[in-house]
Amino acid sequence: MPIDNHVRIFDTTLRDGEQSPGATMTLEEKLRIAKKLEDLGVDVIEAGFPAASPGELESVRQIGQVLERAEVAGLCRTRETDIEASWKAVGAAKHPRLHVFIATSPLHREHKLKMSPEDVLEEVRRGVAQCASLCKSVEFSAEDATRTELDYLKEVFACAIENGATVLNIPDTVGYTMPQEYTRIVSEIMSDVVKDHPVVVSTHCHNDLGLAVANSMAAIAAGARQVECCINGIGERAGNAALEEIVMGLKVRRDLLGCDTRIDTRQIMSTSRLVSQVTGLHVSASKPIVGRNAFAHESGIHQHGMLKDRRTYEIMLPEDVGLSESKIVLGKHSGRHALQKRLEELGFTMGSVQLGKVFERFKRLADKKKNIYDEDLTALVADDVFDVPARFELVQVHFRGGSDQAPEAEVTVRFDGEEHSCQATGNGPVNAVINALKLCTESEEVTVEDYHIDALSGGSDAQGNVRLSVSSDGTVAHGRATHLDVVMASAQAFIAALNHLAFQVEIDRRRAVGGV
Ligand code: KIV
Ligand code: ZN
Repeated sequence: MPIDNHVRIFDTTLRDGEQSPGATMTLEEKLRIAKKLEDLGVDVIEAGFPAASPGELESVRQIGQVLERAEVAGLCRTRETDIEASWKAVGAAKHPRLHVFIATSPLHREHKLKMSPEDVLEEVRRGVAQCASLCKSVEFSAEDATRTELDYLKEVFACAIENGATVLNIPDTVGYTMPQEYTRIVSEIMSDVVKDHPVVVSTHCHNDLGLAVANSMAAIAAGARQVECCINGIGERAGNAALEEIVMGLKVRRDLLGCDTRIDTRQIMSTSRLVSQVTGLHVSASKPIVGRNAFAHESGIHQHGMLKDRRTYEIMLPEDVGLSESKIVLGKHSGRHALQKRLEELGFTMGSVQLGKVFERFKRLADKKKNIYDEDLTALVADDVFDVPARFELVQVHFRGGSDQAPEAEVTVRFDGEEHSCQATGNGPVNAVINALKLCTESEEVTVEDYHIDALSGGSDAQGNVRLSVSSDGTVAHGRATHLDVVMASAQAFIAALNHLAFQVEIDRRRAVGGV
């Protein structure tokens, strides 16, 4: 049978993904993710393992009820009661699938199942036939397939086809296999077992050696047309193949593999964020496709190339994965072109002499400071080009509070050549400090519009990064600061925003009198 070029995306974020330590999700969270996965365009959603508990069965059942287009799969062992539980969970869905598995490798047969090869074959025969008597769509997985004797694996899969399986899954359960070995296994299953049978061959690769995506790609090249994967590559131990990497790999290298998926790739980023937020599993900055730095460029040479033609350093468009644009990150490796572009975006056009001066100051600042934010650049330009130095300088901050004391703050700020001190209370220490700063800087009309705080690392000793926006009379300004003490970070960010605001007001005034 000729194989088509449609690679079915089988998402198992809600089942294998939930097996990531600490990733347990509530029913509401699972429903949100399931709907998002359907919008994303996945073909199959594995919603859980219904025999695990009554709660799991109910959650798979409810997920099945909200899906319109995607198939919903319930995982089960070959045991009769497991299959009954799975069918109870997915039977009423629009597009149900039973996913039945048993381990086939000698290690699992002898030490875990305590079964002979014949016993396992008998289980496959019985389990798959029971599934096929209930459901049209039956997937059979040979757990630890890649460490199973290949001839025996072929017998097992042939038996699954004979008894009604429509999908044959070849899991690399412990992420042990190399791409060339996996290619051979898939190719031989395709040529010696599948032959003309109308069944789809599927991959399910774990990432213990970092090869889950490479192995999945090798399997597709060898004829597999279903890939099992998870958003952000989460899953048992080192995780499963990452959906976003496979989908974008197929899209970017269509010239080589000639295959398509039904994924709306522009929804990849929002799906990744949802899964990370719900599971609490952070995506590493350098993670392909969805990491914070996946489309960020810091080196001057790369930035220059990017500004001339983005294809020099980007193999896909950030817009294709749902990002609005690539990020040119200004830091000590950045060059003059990138600085000029960012200054223009901030509304500052300047001649080459002025730009040279700003560039020099920028490089000195970048040697001291890890990231240069827009506020830093604005302050630099304000001082160097417009001769408007920062108006406010934070001198001191004290705050008190606790379980039996209302939060109270005292701050000192220098401006107009003098130090000013004020006290205020608030509903928390940050609020009290900001209230005191408003009083002290005579900025009571300023409103904090937006306040975000992130821990820069995992422990309780992490630095807090505060980003906030303030507005006054329709003018909006931003401030950002990092400090080990989150109240200090908030105070510094607020002062940075006030300086930014004062600068904008001054520039507007000069523009109005024709001085800029
Ligand atoms: O890794 C694995 O083998 C599995 C199967 C149940 C498909 O998750
Ligand atoms: Zn798995």
